[in-house]
Amino acid sequence: MAKEIRTIGVMTSGGDAPGMNAAIRAVARACAYYNVKCIGFYRGYQGMIEGDYSVMNARSVRNIISMGGTILKSARSKDFMTPEGRKKAADHLKEIGVDAMVLIGGDGTFRGGQIFSEEYNIPVIGVPGTIDNDIAGTNYTIGYDTALNTVIDAIDKIRDTASSHDRLFFIEVMGRDAGFIALNSGVGAGAEEILIPEEDLGLDRLLESLKRSKRSGKASSIVVVSEGDKTGKNVFELADYVTENLPDYDVRVTVLGHMQRGGSPSCFDRTLASRLCVKAVELLLDGKKNVMVGIIDNKISATSFDVGLQEDHGINKELLRISDILST
Ligand code: F6P
Repeated sequence: MAKEIRTIGVMTSGGDAPGMNAAIRAVARACAYYNVKCIGFYRGYQGMIEGDYSVMNARSVRNIISMGGTILKSARSKDFMTPEGRKKAADHLKEIGVDAMVLIGGDGTFRGGQIFSEEYNIPVIGVPGTIDNDIAGTNYTIGYDTALNTVIDAIDKIRDTASSHDRLFFIEVMGRDAGFIALNSGVGAGAEEILIPEEDLGLDRLLESLKRSKRSGKASSIVVVSEGDKTGKNVFELADYVTENLPDYDVRVTVLGHMQRGGSPSCFDRTLASRLCVKAVELLLDGKKNVMVGIIDNKISATSFDVGLQEDHGINKELLRISDILST
């Protein structure tokens, strides 16, 4: 018989994402609702290793639903990658009496959680929180919607200058291994070209497309580049390459960087975080373990970590075709 769950731990790990606080709030409030003790660990796995935590009740999470960042702080713990680090974490959980964990983060967080849970038989539930949206077991990750809106807002502003000065802007957006942000913000902001890690469209095509733009009478252009794009050139090298080959273009580069991870979460991200985390607590209380929660076709579902972590995270390449048609 599964052990009764009396205390649930929660932590945020990996890159922070808007909506993580709404997620922490939902875990703490769902625990209070079901009369389960809740413990928040600081700096992800590192807090579990060091025994750095606070007991959380329903009031500990007041007024945080609208806040960006994470009140529990976040980290990518190197120590947790070692067996010794994981043992320390397991010892602390035992000492404090934590029966199960809710892990809010991205693929690295889930990989660590899967190993930990197998080694120490501690039930864990993963909640996808990353602006990258690169988790296969869910249509949306917490933070992605807010990040997209931040990016769109920034590109719209840059478009004003591009248009006033007849310039070509290369705009780098986040996504080391995934092009969701680039692809969707590119279509949403009407970019002329979009470069993503999942598809190498080639540099010749980029030059051809920019020549075509000029011929069609466009005076300014926006190229959205995912930081992990496949051309093998970073955004500055791409700008130099175009300047060398198309000297008529007045080229500038903007790297949006970490502003994409901050800010108050959108209503979508707050609601998503709330739904996913209530489900995470309920799954643990039902004796479920070692799965991630996600939203698929607007239904909250539980998927094995193996599925969530598969390489093909289902980016919609159809959007490249749409972008091609609409940038005519
Ligand atoms: O949060 C995910 C992500 O934004 C990636 O797209 C990016 O490569 C990475 O985080 C950078 O994070 P950091 O600067 O915290 O290492």
